[in-house]
Amino acid sequence: MTVPHSPGPADATVAPAAKSRTDEIPRLLAGLAARSPAIPPKYFYDDLGSRLFAAITALPEYYPTRTEAELLRTHLPAIVAAAPVTGGTLIDLGAGNCEKAAQLFAHMQPRHYVAVDISAEFLRDSLQCLQRLHPQLTLQGVGTDFSERLDLPSTLPTHRRTFFYPGSSIGNFTPADAIVFLRSVRDHMGDDGALWIGVDLQKPRDVLEPAYDDPLGVTAAFNKNVLTHVNRIAGTDFALADWRHVAFYDAHHGRIEMHLEAVRETRVAWRGGGRTFARGERIHTENSYKHTIPGFRDLLARAGLRTAGHWTDARGWFAFFVATPDGTP
Ligand code: AVJ
Repeated sequence: MTVPHSPGPADATVAPAAKSRTDEIPRLLAGLAARSPAIPPKYFYDDLGSRLFAAITALPEYYPTRTEAELLRTHLPAIVAAAPVTGGTLIDLGAGNCEKAAQLFAHMQPRHYVAVDISAEFLRDSLQCLQRLHPQLTLQGVGTDFSERLDLPSTLPTHRRTFFYPGSSIGNFTPADAIVFLRSVRDHMGDDGALWIGVDLQKPRDVLEPAYDDPLGVTAAFNKNVLTHVNRIAGTDFALADWRHVAFYDAHHGRIEMHLEAVRETRVAWRGGGRTFARGERIHTENSYKHTIPGFRDLLARAGLRTAGHWTDARGWFAFFVATPDGTP
């Protein structure tokens, strides 16, 4: 189903979230009951969670967003030259408030813009705003959870599809899952498409850990808010005061891990079940993988993508890659 929401000259639409999987809540509860309990990171992003994430990006310790924005500002002409999108379709993966992509329109000059996000609500408002600013652009929103597979409506324009996946969100996938995901992007790309992707890089622990455990406690609030969200959607009764934020860099796996740790023994109940968490027991809430340039290039290659160019900042903290389907000119 597609819901028109803007009577503007061009046709801006938001397809509501592909009906949420019926087994979503049972799977979430099974994850809580498991021997190694976990909550998938997509549950961070309820309304408050999205705002808390926006606050994280403003923290002095959280360098990725700022570094990527700077990279794009500095190298946009070269990035565009590596894989032109003029007259084509810009597909924004995890568009959120569409801010990042909006800044690119002048340089990229797409004909169509497709904003993909798990939160269809969020998209509706920002697309309305974008349509007023860019009346010549065809705007479309797709509310879908692509953390497991990328399902796109078959009605999307096919010409020159550029997938924009900024912010190093690819870091939430294990390398093996990242290859599967990137291959599905490649499959949606056709032969004249491209992928623009931001990738966070391996760096010293004393830079990484404060970015995920800031002294102001914003990341702690972001992490703990997942319990409020789960309480609301799954009917659990997590007491937030019983949990503390834990974040550390695992250099062996090249990833930040975030957990919620029980500060005392605590019982959590839900319809038809529940469990006790011992003091010190943890719920794994996020992995954020950090890559290397050759390592990520290799990941892209395994997904059938050739690196057309990559750019990094002077400190080598973050990289932006442009990749095109392998085996095309
Ligand atoms: C949105 C997945 C890129 O991993 O840096 C920020 C999420 N978690 N602080 C990241 C996040 C804690 C973020 N990504």
